[in-house]
Amino acid sequence: MSDKLIIFDTTLRDGEQSPGASMTRDEKVRIAKALERMRVDVIEAGFPAASPGDFEGVQAVARSIKESVVCGLARALDRDIDQAGEALKDAERSRIHTFIATSPIHMQLKLRMSPDQVIEHAVKAVQRARRYTDNVEFSPEDAGRSEEDFLCKILEAVIDAGATTLNIPDTVGYSMPDIFGRTIRRLRERIPNSDKAIFSVHCHNDLGLAVANSLSAVMNGARQVECTINGLGERAGNAALEEIVMAVKTRKDVFPCHTDIDTREIVACSKLVSNITGFPVQPNKAIVGANAFAHESGIHQDGVLKHRETYEIMCAEDVGWSANRMVLGKHSGRNAFRTRMAELGIEFSSEAELNEAFSRFKDLADKKHEIFDEDLQALITDAGDMADDEGVRLVSLKASSETGEQPSAKVTVRVDQDELTATATGGGVVDASLKAIEAVLKTDAQLLLYSVNNITTGTDAQGEVTVRLEKGGRIVNGQGADTDIVIASAKAYLNAVNKLRAPQARMHPQAISEV
Ligand code: KIV
Ligand code: ZN
Repeated sequence: MSDKLIIFDTTLRDGEQSPGASMTRDEKVRIAKALERMRVDVIEAGFPAASPGDFEGVQAVARSIKESVVCGLARALDRDIDQAGEALKDAERSRIHTFIATSPIHMQLKLRMSPDQVIEHAVKAVQRARRYTDNVEFSPEDAGRSEEDFLCKILEAVIDAGATTLNIPDTVGYSMPDIFGRTIRRLRERIPNSDKAIFSVHCHNDLGLAVANSLSAVMNGARQVECTINGLGERAGNAALEEIVMAVKTRKDVFPCHTDIDTREIVACSKLVSNITGFPVQPNKAIVGANAFAHESGIHQDGVLKHRETYEIMCAEDVGWSANRMVLGKHSGRNAFRTRMAELGIEFSSEAELNEAFSRFKDLADKKHEIFDEDLQALITDAGDMADDEGVRLVSLKASSETGEQPSAKVTVRVDQDELTATATGGGVVDASLKAIEAVLKTDAQLLLYSVNNITTGTDAQGEVTVRLEKGGRIVNGQGADTDIVIASAKAYLNAVNKLRAPQARMHPQAISEV
């Protein structure tokens, strides 16, 4: 029997640190449920001390998840650890993850602390976390640029203090696979009590090596990998969960371990995360990209038709690519709708909520012949955002475009209790509609990104629009879905505006110099 490789997902924490990827409490719960369905071992749900919103997000995930361990991040500070302990108090199984930087550059210039002070903080933090849970993880931040002797010293001390997982982060994505793997092996060999803890790795992708570094660590004894769906995360992101899991599964001949992940849930989870965060998946992305199993060359197609394994090392179905089939249509009843939603992990808290979603489903089914799982997911994302942030809503939109004429739009939006209307012209109907909304709302936000994706195929498919806005240094993503992309665009814009209007003072875990 091979060793188990623990899959620690940090989409809801490090993933959320991607600019614009912040998630609401309910969105976090939906993603957490999808991760649990996939049998992820540990879900890092957020950084409770960062903001009241983060605290509530972790608390909501802790209350909804039964199988996976729910983890909260905390700096090596009493108040962070107490907040994490409090947010996780209702979890079936909880973990506190505490960290402090150990590289010379971080200790001297960011923390302004001596190495001995850093060890003292780390030990105290682990001891305090143990008051809340016996599952405590410690990370020496920027381990990839820390001195090996110092890492040995601090890690030995935190194991004695009660840390059960030692996570070695390559915080700035600086390591090289051979060197990183060797570091993991040497730490395990040199630390006298290393057998009392599980070694974990957390790699960033600044040089495109996050997955390679993580897998090299696994070959050298790491038995937990921290990763995110679609490789989302700070800057260039983290190691992609789907790539780690499928590498270990596909190359069982190479890796001395296995994961418990239900790989058939991967694609659905990837789409959900992309949908909620507004970060599209590039078509050539391994495992979850639209082209990951598509063969263009005639020679390849011929080979695959004769024998799939000539050009395919994995089965598309094994990662969930068969899911794009028609599931419901115009004549489907409420029960079929509720059942399929439950299979997708979407539950309704009341009959009224179910009825409301069912009526939107019927509206969609009138416009679109076949309804796929992706349409159902989008239906909920769209409605969830509206319900959460009711401040600004689209009341009506009329757009016109004619050859030789300048496109124009008339938009009415409800702002709190008032209905306001404006008209505008633009380069196209989308441009005119967004300008009309701006004429009403005067947000002065800067549009950083506008993108449209077809949720499924066909010209009657829903278009899913992502709009990224920036104002006063804050970046938010808004999403909207509709069979009419002009309406989808207006919804996405208003969704982003609502997020900008929501108060959110949030700390960034690594941007704070305190500890
Ligand atoms: O990248 C990093 O070092 C982190 C730590 C908090 C583990 O995200
Ligand atoms: Zn990180």
